[in-house]
Amino acid sequence: MRTVDRLYNQIEARSEGDLSPVSTNELPFEISSIAKSVNLLMERLRRVLDAERGFAANSAHELRTPIAAALAQTQRLIAEAPAGSLTNRTVQIEASLHHLTELSGKLLQLAKAEGGSLLAERPQDLITILTHVIDSFVRTGEDHDRLLLTNASGASLISRMDPDAFGILMNNLVENAPKYSRPDSIIEIEIHADNTLSVRNEGEIIQPEVMKRIRSRFERGQTKISGSGPGLAIADTIAQGATARLELYSPALDRRDGFEAKSVL
Ligand SMILES: Nc1ncnc2c1ncn2[C@@H]1O[C@H](COP(=O)(O)OP(=O)(O)OP(=O)(O)O)[C@@H](O)[C@H]1O
Ligand SMILES: [Mg+2]
Repeated sequence: MRTVDRLYNQIEARSEGDLSPVSTNELPFEISSIAKSVNLLMERLRRVLDAERGFAANSAHELRTPIAAALAQTQRLIAEAPAGSLTNRTVQIEASLHHLTELSGKLLQLAKAEGGSLLAERPQDLITILTHVIDSFVRTGEDHDRLLLTNASGASLISRMDPDAFGILMNNLVENAPKYSRPDSIIEIEIHADNTLSVRNEGEIIQPEVMKRIRSRFERGQTKISGSGPGLAIADTIAQGATARLELYSPALDRRDGFEAKSVL
């Protein structure tokens, strides 16, 4: 293959997040100066993107302390105020502050997913992380008896995805399932023999035009349930950054209705 074609292939084959320099070895002089300029441009772009991601992560992090302080004060007010319209309004402020806490948490996750390294040094079995995520929902949530994990073939989940990133991905998928389905319905979390993992819940079919947009950063479906919108964008960004894939289906696969999020590791 000609050296110029090799350069062309190197640039063509890159994923959108890969801003590492292209090799300038063995290129004819006129082409190597173009390759060097491309590298300088990518370096500048990388610095701008790093600064932007750093800013997003720092802002989200810095917001947490004042929000927590405001929440604590509001909760004291609720405890001390006489019952009536003042308390009702304070309870609304408390709900808004809870929403802000969740939003800043999601923004932090998104910034980390977009900026951090999402690949571990070597492949490992992620089942322990999955059971840890499920256990944390079971311990803390009201939906503790709704999550059903099955692994009929005794498969493992081998992947190079960073375990912390996998935890965040699964947390976002598992969190959604009880939230958007009938209160007493079962959530099936299924490990398949082909290194894939499904989270499936019951519910009405989501229209194709809604399905097209729900993995965008701040897009939500037609719902009154509280949420901010970045959840599936975080999951999708992590999957893509770790050469995995997130597939979303409604109706769920082999079902008449419901929703299924399938991680192909
Ligand atoms: N398991 C699910 N079943 C049915 N609908 C779902 C499911 N998961 C997501 N959705 C739909 O997709 C939308 C986007 O989900 P996403 O997790 O990105 O955001 P969110 O849950 O609205 O807010 P948050 O970012 O706080 O998680 C939801 O608003 C909901 O309409
Ligand atoms: Mg969500």
